[in-house]
Amino acid sequence: MRILVTGGAGFIGSAVVRHIVNHTEHSVCNVDKLTYAGNLESLASVSDNERYCFHRVDICDRAALDAVFLEFRPDAIMHLAAESHVDRSIEGPAAFIETNIVGTYTLLEVARGYWSQLNDSAKDAFRFHHVSTDEVYGDLHGITDLFTETTPYAPSSPYSASKASSDHLVRAWARTYGLPTLITNCSNNYGPYHFPEKLIPLIILNALRGKALPVYGKGDQVRDWLYVEDHARALCNVLVSGKVGETYNIGGHNEKKNIDVVKKLCSILDELRPLDTVNLDARAVMRESGLDGKNYRELISHVKDRPGHDQRYAIDATKIERELGWTPDETFESGIRKTVQWYLDNPSWVARVESGEYQSWLNKQYGKGTL
Ligand code: NAD
Ligand code: DAU
Repeated sequence: MRILVTGGAGFIGSAVVRHIVNHTEHSVCNVDKLTYAGNLESLASVSDNERYCFHRVDICDRAALDAVFLEFRPDAIMHLAAESHVDRSIEGPAAFIETNIVGTYTLLEVARGYWSQLNDSAKDAFRFHHVSTDEVYGDLHGITDLFTETTPYAPSSPYSASKASSDHLVRAWARTYGLPTLITNCSNNYGPYHFPEKLIPLIILNALRGKALPVYGKGDQVRDWLYVEDHARALCNVLVSGKVGETYNIGGHNEKKNIDVVKKLCSILDELRPLDTVNLDARAVMRESGLDGKNYRELISHVKDRPGHDQRYAIDATKIERELGWTPDETFESGIRKTVQWYLDNPSWVARVESGEYQSWLNKQYGKGTL
């Protein structure tokens, strides 16, 4: 297959591109605008492969997309390009409306125009796979309820509302025009190459520097964590074997309270990078702030809660497990340890993504004094 991946320089998109190049025979064309969240360094291991190519294109730019479709002639689209950070959507929703809604609409129109010109067998085989989130379902308040594929949509944030809108557009293009679509809704991902604005990499990197670990509110909100490479494998499975027009929920059966995730990261770091013998610089920073500097947990700082903060997400992944035979390889224990080790081993990737723009986001979001 010739697969056009949008957002392939992002956290999940780059895992998908690496998976396709390393574990399949398919060709992949990465279409990415390279916003602050897009990093070609995440693709260094595959960028010379002859089955990989890259075009720097904004998915809102119809003419540029038309040209890429004409040149690459895809058999399938995997659409991951998006603005993805909830806190940024609260601070400035415009980019989320533009990329997640208008961009998805533009991509759907370009795909529809291209698909309608294909011969009948190519038309049947074509797939438009839209990669979405469990946040479209809103949040759960009981402790046993799960999101299924038929849970009603009830998004809470500008981000999740924009993703919900894009899901509705994809379903409308399938029903009205017959475009062969697939939708997946996944829970929180974690793993290598995760941009450090998100909880897990932010906590790892702040801890290593002896900086405060910001926990919103009480930290009792629950997220359902999935290792990113398990998600990439699930997406490829759905693309190849999923039933046209269907939705599949993807999740890792790893529900954790935020505070427990932060404490777990602290204890892994205590073991792998002890403050009193290896990370003396961080201990010195902690001591300057009046802390003992004996363990990373001392850095936990409860800060102002996220407005409209969703309480709990939890995915029922029975459908994809039963119909497509996908299950995650990583437990939370194994995946989180690999993730911490990856950040310890890749300081140069971290240094490159922490641009000036990212520093100004940190100052705006958390205040100069806190971090
Ligand atoms: P990310 O923010 O790490 O990456 C997004 C990528 O999209 C970046 O490479 C960025 O440059 C690119 N992009 C942004 N605007 C663009 C535009 N207008 N044109 C072209 N490219 C553009 O995001 P992620 O965490 O990798 O998420 C990927 C997709 O998966 C998103 O659609 C997100 O909603 C969805 N998702 C994410 C998670 C998660 O936990 N991260 C979970 C479920 C679903
Ligand atoms: O559920 C899937 C979604 O998961 C994806 O659709 C989003 O793109 C992705 O960003 C993620 O959204 P979250 O808002 O759940 O992820 P984030 O890492 O921003 O936050 C995880 C939890 O940790 C959330 O409850 C907020 C909390 N948090 C986050 C940050 C950045 C903190 O307590 N402190 C922080 O500094």
